[in-house]
Amino acid sequence: MATKVATVSSRPKVRLTKLFIDNKWIDPVDGGEFETFNPATGEVIAKVAAAGKADVDKAVKAARRALEVAPWSTMDAADRGRLLYRLADLVEQNAGELAMLESRNCGKTINDSKGDMVGVANTLRYYAGWADKIEGRTVPVRGSFLSYTLRQPVGVVGQIIPWNFPLLMLAWKWGPALACGNTVVMKPAEQTPLSALRLAELAQEAGFPAGVINVVNGMGETTGAALVAHPDVDKIAFTGHVDTAKIIQKSAADTLKRTTFELGGKSPNVVFADADLNAAVEGAFHAIYFHGGQCCTAGSRLFVESKIHHEFVERLAEKAKGRVVGDQLDPKTEQGPQVSQEQLDKILHYVKLGEKQGATLLTGGERVGSKGFFVQPTIFDNVKDDMAIAKDEIFGPVVSILPFKSVDEVIDRANRTFYGLAAAIWTKNIDKAHLYAKKVKAGTVWVNCYHIVDTTTPFGGFKMSGQGRENGEAALEHYTELKTVTIKLN
Ligand code: NAI
Ligand code: MG
Repeated sequence: MATKVATVSSRPKVRLTKLFIDNKWIDPVDGGEFETFNPATGEVIAKVAAAGKADVDKAVKAARRALEVAPWSTMDAADRGRLLYRLADLVEQNAGELAMLESRNCGKTINDSKGDMVGVANTLRYYAGWADKIEGRTVPVRGSFLSYTLRQPVGVVGQIIPWNFPLLMLAWKWGPALACGNTVVMKPAEQTPLSALRLAELAQEAGFPAGVINVVNGMGETTGAALVAHPDVDKIAFTGHVDTAKIIQKSAADTLKRTTFELGGKSPNVVFADADLNAAVEGAFHAIYFHGGQCCTAGSRLFVESKIHHEFVERLAEKAKGRVVGDQLDPKTEQGPQVSQEQLDKILHYVKLGEKQGATLLTGGERVGSKGFFVQPTIFDNVKDDMAIAKDEIFGPVVSILPFKSVDEVIDRANRTFYGLAAAIWTKNIDKAHLYAKKVKAGTVWVNCYHIVDTTTPFGGFKMSGQGRENGEAALEHYTELKTVTIKLN
């Protein structure tokens, strides 16, 4: 395998490590600090302030005040949009630095991080455009009344994001929240606390009023939990593990706050013998190995029609063996380290389980080097639906090949999971494509493509992959309350 173990060439000093509350950089009152690492080496990049309960309370109070008073509460919707446009411009102007910060902390390749920054700017601009287009309706009510609806902000929104796409997930949450006039308290993932702080600084530079945007780092079980339990937070928007969502939903029940969830998946990627095989091999490879499999939409269940099974799997394995794994800051690297020791251990645990339960380990399956958290691109062949590697979200570069014979069979098997985030099909037959698109239980379906996620299209999960939708117009519904106003006419 073309493996290069990382050497970290540049070590820019990290400036921003405090809490960002009310447009001020402050030390925690009752929180502590934690270390954040470069996953390629395990070296500490910085010590970062952790928010305790009192700090979260401070952030929520700042967000509440900003929500209720000028200038935010009286600002023209178009001017909210202008702030978002300005932030998008600043992201673009600082994209190189942001991408570097993101890659060092999260382990994603520098090329992928640059791609993420384009997505961040696109998302902020898309919602900037929405700010002055969020409208109510007039309603033809019975009797002598005028009824109309208003869409108003939900209020103070707590946003909890994961480490796999730190700034992109932030943009998916800030964009619609701010366009709709909410204020936010953001809790980044403890593995990747740095880039959100830099974006907070850019938001201040863009001119967002004090308290509209707050960033509190810290652990999920403390900082995150305090935000979820806080009685003055109106909504929690969460992306992460399904088990974390269950904890959040239980805690949110005490205050009946609104919740939206974007959770993981075990997405079925189905290849028929009538597909363009070159495109399908490329597509299946990208589906699982993009960002080392650390994607909620990863195509981790790869159903291949029996007729082409042998050829397909051989070609996929050939590609996997040639993948360049190494230092995420080297532009030639195709796959960086996994984000953490925890994720590395989880992936290697599933590799062992796969072997124990009788799947064929075709290629990969090992850690790369002894420093950092690198894993070989891994393929398990002849996997059965009830094996752990076919059921659980591994969140690493491990794909399960599941041979199939007919359309009905594969649709049935694709749906036998409690997840329902994404699904894909590779075929030249339009009937098969439409049937699959209709029957598969997933929030996103790709035909002859994979991982096409655009800020303009709704994104979210069926079943236990989520609640609500992000991106597109659909997100606005989840960041506004609908109010009916009825006026007696004489
Ligand atoms: P996680 O769900 O624990 O973490 C996501 C976010 O939730 C982080 O900001 C974390 O601090 C916060 N959090 C954790 N516990 C919390 C609590 N009790 N209250 C409030 N906030 C809390 O995910 P983790 O542990 O980082 O990764 C574990 C697995 O989760 C991965 O192996 C993967 O399978 C899945 N995952 C899915 C993601 C997705 O995009 N859907 C993203 C990240 C992880
Ligand atoms: Mg966790």
